Amino acid sequence: MKEFKRYLLTAALPYANGPLHIGHLAGCYLPADIYARYLRAQKKDIKFVCGSDEHGVPITIRAMKEGIQPQEVVDKYHAIIKDSFEQIGISFDIYSRTSNAVHHKTASDFFTNLYDKGLFEEKETEQYYDEEKKTFLADRYIIGTCPVCGNENAYGDQCERCGSSLSPDQLINPKSALSDAVPVKKKTKHWYFPLQNYEPFLKQWILEEHTDWKNNVYGQCKSWLDKGLQPRAMTRDSSWGVKVPLPGAEGKVLYVWFDAPIGYISATKELTENWADYWCKEDTKLVHFIGKDNIVFHCIIFPAMLKAHGNFVLPDNVPANEFLNIEGDKVSTSRNWAVWVDEYLKDFPDQQDVLRYVLCANAPETKDNDFTWKDFQDRTNSELVSIFGNFVNRTFVLMHKLCKGKVPKLHEDILDDADKKLFEEIQNSKFKIQNLLDQYKFRDALYEVIDLARKGNKYMQDKQPWIVARQTGDDGQPNGEAQKQIDNTLHICLQLTANLAIFINPFLPFTAKKMIYMMKVVDKMLDWENAGKAMLLSIGYSLRAPELLFRKIEDEEIAAQIQKLKATSGNVQNKNINSQKMEDIKVEDSSKASPPIGGGGLEGALKSTIQYDDFAKLNLKVGTILSAEKVEKADKLLKLEVDLGFEKRIVVSGIALHFKPEEIIGKQVVVVANLASRKMRGIESNGMILMAEDKAGKLYFVSPGEKIDEGSSVT
Ligand code: 2FM
Ligand code: ZN
Repeated sequence: MKEFKRYLLTAALPYANGPLHIGHLAGCYLPADIYARYLRAQKKDIKFVCGSDEHGVPITIRAMKEGIQPQEVVDKYHAIIKDSFEQIGISFDIYSRTSNAVHHKTASDFFTNLYDKGLFEEKETEQYYDEEKKTFLADRYIIGTCPVCGNENAYGDQCERCGSSLSPDQLINPKSALSDAVPVKKKTKHWYFPLQNYEPFLKQWILEEHTDWKNNVYGQCKSWLDKGLQPRAMTRDSSWGVKVPLPGAEGKVLYVWFDAPIGYISATKELTENWADYWCKEDTKLVHFIGKDNIVFHCIIFPAMLKAHGNFVLPDNVPANEFLNIEGDKVSTSRNWAVWVDEYLKDFPDQQDVLRYVLCANAPETKDNDFTWKDFQDRTNSELVSIFGNFVNRTFVLMHKLCKGKVPKLHEDILDDADKKLFEEIQNSKFKIQNLLDQYKFRDALYEVIDLARKGNKYMQDKQPWIVARQTGDDGQPNGEAQKQIDNTLHICLQLTANLAIFINPFLPFTAKKMIYMMKVVDKMLDWENAGKAMLLSIGYSLRAPELLFRKIEDEEIAAQIQKLKATSGNVQNKNINSQKMEDIKVEDSSKASPPIGGGGLEGALKSTIQYDDFAKLNLKVGTILSAEKVEKADKLLKLEVDLGFEKRIVVSGIALHFKPEEIIGKQVVVVANLASRKMRGIESNGMILMAEDKAGKLYFVSPGEKIDEGSSVT
């Protein structure tokens, strides 16, 4: 494999014609940021550049819609976009803009370089012209009836209703979007870049040498190359953009797709005087992060331009993502069918990582994916809160409670297989996560991090240090043997927590920061070389009190977001958010949640509010335990026969580590009598016994104060 000395990461320059939405984040900025943070943690020499794309038709259209000048449009949205990126933690080394003088000069010089080499073909063609406004019309400025679906407001390049790609000539009754005048055809001269001459080079470079690119990227390139490339005009008639640097080219600017990717070079120039090291030395790894609609520009047109210029490196990879839909429908800025990042940040202050998590866990890496608010809630509550947050919190709470707030010793003499296995898992995870990140498989890499936390929870649950702590000596403290076991469990959980901070850092940097604060370690601990190490926290070192890393997302918050989406989209009948989905979010979906994890009540948070009707669905009945026996090969289960008055039932209960069978015969208990039956270790369990659990994890039966008739209701 080729060794690279430095890395240059670019993320598509967003048009400064509107705020940032979560589709933008999921498409390219989040993966780019995760990769940048991962490389920085590896101490690589990296530059991560981006900026606003401030030219082209998208800007002039927005200016027209808002009745303001293009400059005002880009000033307004550049500021909003830049702020959203900063707040959500996208760690660009520079966020520049293409209206900067350095960019105008760089793009202009690039054009001149190709022009001086005689590479452009000058051609005169007929294009639509608005005689009233005295201006040529870009395809987007021509509006007419779509020949496919009859939409009367289709654009000259596309119908937004049916999605057909169009040319202005196909529109029925075309008119100018600027004046309503019927456009006429008029001759105009432009400079064409002969893309077809680069076909052999592109075929070799992509189809032969870059079979490692993602399927969606490689496939799109292959289809363009198979169809054959055509000359492409690199100039436009407009007063907004980089002026064409040629005599007699008044009223003409560079095509926005000529100037925008050069914006990556200008931004690097603005960032560092060593910019040429990153752009011109062969041992630079250049990676373009983009969305799928930008593939042809970054894989075909820009590389052909770079090749024609001759001084620049070509991208090593272009890991484009597909699109993220919202609640089953395509993002549409014109219909306001979008989740805007600036609004999210206002509605969910300090919840940046939660959005980062959901967008990465559900990233459209190989196909279009759907963002739903319900999934946002489920993933937050059942993955971040219940798995990752729960593990870290329990570790800290128990360490404070059972180890005096200090990193306990590791007693090598009593290390058992489970302890050793968890150390191995930490190391394995490092290699798995690294391997996936190196292949731009961010979603799978994140899954591995959560899976490691899940293993931590399981380990803790199996070890149950809060139960071991009940083996006390005369002084009421855990006896020597018990304390050694507790020390080992919590020592290992703490070292795992430190590793989890390193692993989660590229994905959820705000969380990693909180974790290193709690562990009282410096940022340097997050260096990737530390991942997989067994001794990141020193023995005897005292740690801070835990802070909850994540909070639960409530049903009401989700309902409010869905309501907002519906209300502002002006599309109340949107087929995708139907009343069924609204119903779904009223009742928590506990089927996906992790099973409750011991050390009861440590999170301290209440579940979301339920209505009386929800409670009334339960049949709680008093019963008497008639018999109890251990379930074979299941340490934690007891098989109970319970007399409910109206019938006798078998209930399997996970209380075997807490009670001896013979101790509980004759006890009166409360049973959830209408719970669906469930097979456990081959035994059908019909109901559930209610238990109370104290902070140390000790269980108590919930019973009526005195003996009453079996079958009495608990209301
Ligand atoms: O699709 C877009 O939003 C473009 N503004 C992306 C430009 S990427 C690069 F070429 F600058
Ligand atoms: Zn149509």
